[in-house]
Amino acid sequence: MGQPALCSIVSTDSPLPATAPWIVLKFGGTSVSTAARWATIRALAHGRRAEGARVLVVVSALSGITDLLKAASQEDDVGARLVIAEQIEARHVELAHCLELPQSAQWRTHMDALRHIVQMETAPADLIPWQASVMAHGELLSSAMGADWLHAAWLDARSVLRASDQPNQSERMQRFSALLETQPDPRAAVELAGLGEILITQGFIARDVHGGTVLLGRGGSDTSAAHFGALLRAARVEIWTDVAGMFSANPRLVPDARLLRRLDYEEAQEIATTGAKVLHARCLAPLRGPRVPLWIKDTERPQLAGTEIGAEAVEASPSIKALSMRKGITLVSMESIGMWQQVGFLADVFAQFKRHGLSVDLIGSAETNVTVSLDSSENLLDSDALATLAADLAQVCRVKVIAPCAAITLVGRGMRGMLHRLQALLAELGGQRVHLISQSSNNLNLTFVTDESAADALLGRMHDLLLQSGALRADDGSIFGPSWRALYAAPMADTGSPWWRAQRVSLLRSAEQGTPKYVYHLPTIRERASALRGMSAVDRWYYALKANSHSAVLRELARAGFGLECVSPGELAEASAVAPETPRLFTPNFAPRDDYAAAFDAGALVCVDSLFPLQKWGDLLAGREIGLRVDLGVGVGHHEKVRTGGSGSKFGLPLADLPAFLAGARRIGARITLLHAHLGSGVLDAAHWAGVYVQLASLAEHVGTLRALDVGGGLGLPQREGEWPLDLAALDAALWDVKRAYPQFELWMEPGRYLVAEAGVLLARVTQVKDKDAYHYLGIDAGMHSLLRPALYGAHHRMVNLSRIDAAADSLYQVVGPICESGDVLGTDRRMPAGEEGDVILIEHAGAYGAVMASEYNRRGLPAQEILE
Ligand code: LLP
Repeated sequence: MGQPALCSIVSTDSPLPATAPWIVLKFGGTSVSTAARWATIRALAHGRRAEGARVLVVVSALSGITDLLKAASQEDDVGARLVIAEQIEARHVELAHCLELPQSAQWRTHMDALRHIVQMETAPADLIPWQASVMAHGELLSSAMGADWLHAAWLDARSVLRASDQPNQSERMQRFSALLETQPDPRAAVELAGLGEILITQGFIARDVHGGTVLLGRGGSDTSAAHFGALLRAARVEIWTDVAGMFSANPRLVPDARLLRRLDYEEAQEIATTGAKVLHARCLAPLRGPRVPLWIKDTERPQLAGTEIGAEAVEASPSIKALSMRKGITLVSMESIGMWQQVGFLADVFAQFKRHGLSVDLIGSAETNVTVSLDSSENLLDSDALATLAADLAQVCRVKVIAPCAAITLVGRGMRGMLHRLQALLAELGGQRVHLISQSSNNLNLTFVTDESAADALLGRMHDLLLQSGALRADDGSIFGPSWRALYAAPMADTGSPWWRAQRVSLLRSAEQGTPKYVYHLPTIRERASALRGMSAVDRWYYALKANSHSAVLRELARAGFGLECVSPGELAEASAVAPETPRLFTPNFAPRDDYAAAFDAGALVCVDSLFPLQKWGDLLAGREIGLRVDLGVGVGHHEKVRTGGSGSKFGLPLADLPAFLAGARRIGARITLLHAHLGSGVLDAAHWAGVYVQLASLAEHVGTLRALDVGGGLGLPQREGEWPLDLAALDAALWDVKRAYPQFELWMEPGRYLVAEAGVLLARVTQVKDKDAYHYLGIDAGMHSLLRPALYGAHHRMVNLSRIDAAADSLYQVVGPICESGDVLGTDRRMPAGEEGDVILIEHAGAYGAVMASEYNRRGLPAQEILE
C-alpha cells in the first residue's frame, strides 16, 4: 500500500490543476471538541493541500451534542427544548471563543434554524422527519464553525449524498439509519472541485429520495467519509480519531494488544463486524470498488503510525490478526427430536426469525439441534421480542434461550491453515463454558460463544496465548506495530542500545574463529546484579545457576553477593569449585537419595518437595535443617512447559499434604527453616511475587520454625516488540507491602534468566539460502542443538545479520539450523537483509538457558563459549 502517489504534482500554493487528487479527512466528535484539536485539523488539512491534493474535511458534531439534540427531539416541552438549544449554543460559543473566531453569518443561520425548529409543534405523522432534522444540526454547526477556522468552502453533505430507497425498512430505520446510494455521480467530483481546494462538510447526514434529511446511524460519519472518498476516487480517506488505529484486541481490555499496521479490506471488515469499534463496518464497502485506501490515525498524536487498509494483502505468512469481542449476544437453541431431516424444518424455523425482524448471525447445527446467535447491535432485542419469538418457535421445536453471552472471534486470512497453532488456546477454552463454535465460510474467522461474565478476562488470556504460540505473529513488523501499552502507557524506561552494538567489530572477528559460539558480556551481568541488589525488600539473593553455569558467570555473581541455587550434584560441584564460601541452596525435583546426601555433605540448605524423602529416607533427614517447596496450585510463565505449579506440574508439595509433612518432620526431628515456592519462568507482572509471598507468609504460621520465605525466581524480560519490562521499583514496593506485615521472616529470591539472558548472544554463520514455495530459508550453523528454546517453547529470540547491520531488512526469512528435524527452526518470518553464505547472524538474549541446554545431537558438537570482561 504505502503513500499514494501525489508526487506528480509539484507542492505549491498556486492553484491546483483539475487532475489534482482528493484526500478526505474525517474527524470524529472528540477530534472537533477542543481548540488544540482544531489546530491539528488545520495543520493536517493545509499540509495535505501543500502536498498537492484537494482536501475534503468531514466532521462529526462536537462530542455530546448529538445526545443533547436527541434529548431535545424526544422532549415534549418546548421550553425544555429551548434550554437544550441554549446549552448547545453555549458549547459552540465557548469553543469559538477559544479559537478566537467571530460568529459568522453561516454559523448563526444554522443556530437560528435550530432554535426555530425546536419551537415547532409537530403533528405525529411528521415526528420522525422533524427529529431527524433536529439531530442533523450537530454536524451543521460544527462544520460551519470549521469552515471559518479553516477558511474552507462549506458544503452541505445533503446536496451530494443520497440515501437509497429501502421499501422493506421501517420509516424509523430509513430516517435514522439510512443506507447510502453506492453509485457515485461522476459529475460530483468536478462540481466539488469548482467549490474550492479545501472543503468542509458534515458526516452523519444525507438526503432521501424526496430531499428530506436522513441520518446514517452509528458510525455514520465514517460512512459519509467513505462515500465521499469513493465518489471523488480519492487518493485516500483518513479517519482521525482518539486512538492510533485498529488493534489486535480491544486495548482497553488487553493493553498488550498490537497496533495493526496494514490490513486488506476483507480482514478490516471482518474485525469491524466482529466487534472493533474504531471503524464502522459499513464504511469499507464503498471503498473496495474504486480501491481507495483508508487510514486510521490518532488526532491527539498525529505522529504515530496508524492502520492502513487497502486492496493489497501484505506478503506475509498466515497470522491471526485480531481477537474481537461482541457482548450482548443471545443464543437461541432449538431442539427438534426427529424433525431434523424433514424437508422444510430449517425454513420454518428461520421464517419465524424473519417474521420477528431478527437477523441471525452465527449458526451451529446437529442432528436434532440448531443453535443460532442474535447480535444485540444488529437487532432491537428486548425481553418481549424474545418471548414472542420463543413462543412462536415453540410450535415447531423445543426452545432454550441462553443469555447474556459474548462472541469472541479470531480473525485472520486463511484461518483453517492456522489451526495447528491454536493448541494452547483450545486447551484454555476447554476449561470454559463454550456454547457454540462457528467458522466462517470465507475462512476469515473462528468464533467462540461463551458466558458474557467470563469474557473480559478470557480475552486477555487468549491474546497472550496467541502471542506465545506464534499464532499472532507480532514479530512481523510489516503487519503488527507496537502494543497499546507501549504507545500510550507511561513511557518505557530507556534501556539503551544493546551492549553488542559497541562490540560489533570484535564479535565479527571472534566469529571468524568458529561458530556457533556463545559470547557473554560480564559488565551487563554486573549491571543486572546491581539492579536486583537495589531492591531493599529482598534479604538474600540466590542465582539459579541452571540458567548459565559458566564458571566466569558464577564467579561474577558470587562476587556480587549472590548465593547459588543448584539442582544437581554437578551444579553443586561447580558452585563449590568456583565459589567455595558462597551459600548454596539445593532445590532438586525427583532426584535420587544420593543427590540429597551429597548436598548435605556439601553444606547446602536442602529443599524437599514431597512426602517421599521424609517417609523413606528418615535417617538421612533426621535432625537436619531443611527447606520445603510447596505447590500453591497455579503455575505462571512464558510457556506451559515452564509453569511449575498446579495439578499438571510435578513440582512442589501439594498443600493438602502439608499437615502430614509437618507431622513427619516433627517425628524425625527435621527443622523446616525455609518455605519455598517457584511458580514458573518468564513472568513480567511485578505483582506476581508479592502474591506468592503473602501466601507463603500465611502458611508460615502452621510451620512454626521458619526463618525465611523464598518466593522463587522467574523474573522475565520482554521478548517481543511491545512487551513491557518488569518494573523492579514496583516489584520492590509490592514486596515491602507484605514484608511490613511479616517482618519476622527473611525474604529470599532466586532468579536465573534476569541476571544473564541479555548478557549472552549466540553467533552463527549463514550456511545456505533457499527459496521453497512461498518461503525463503536462511540456513545457519546454529540449530536446535545449540539453542533449544525456539524448538521447545516457541521462544522468540531477536536476531540480526551482524555482517549487514545497516542494510535494509527487506527479506522475510525462516531462519533454520542444520539438524535433521523439521522443528529445527530458530526464527520464523524474520525481516532481515538478504543474507549470503558466511554472514554472521547474532541471536539475542541467549545468555540464559542457551549453552546449558545445548546437546551434541547429530554429533554436531557443543557450541563454544567466550567471555567478554
Ligand atoms: N528457582 C527454581 C526452583 C527454578 O526451577 C527455576 C527455573 C528458577 C528458580 C529460575 O527461574 P528463572 O528466573 O531463570 O526464570 N528453560 C526454560 C526455563 C526453565 C526454568 C526452570 N526453573 C527457558 O529457557 O525459558
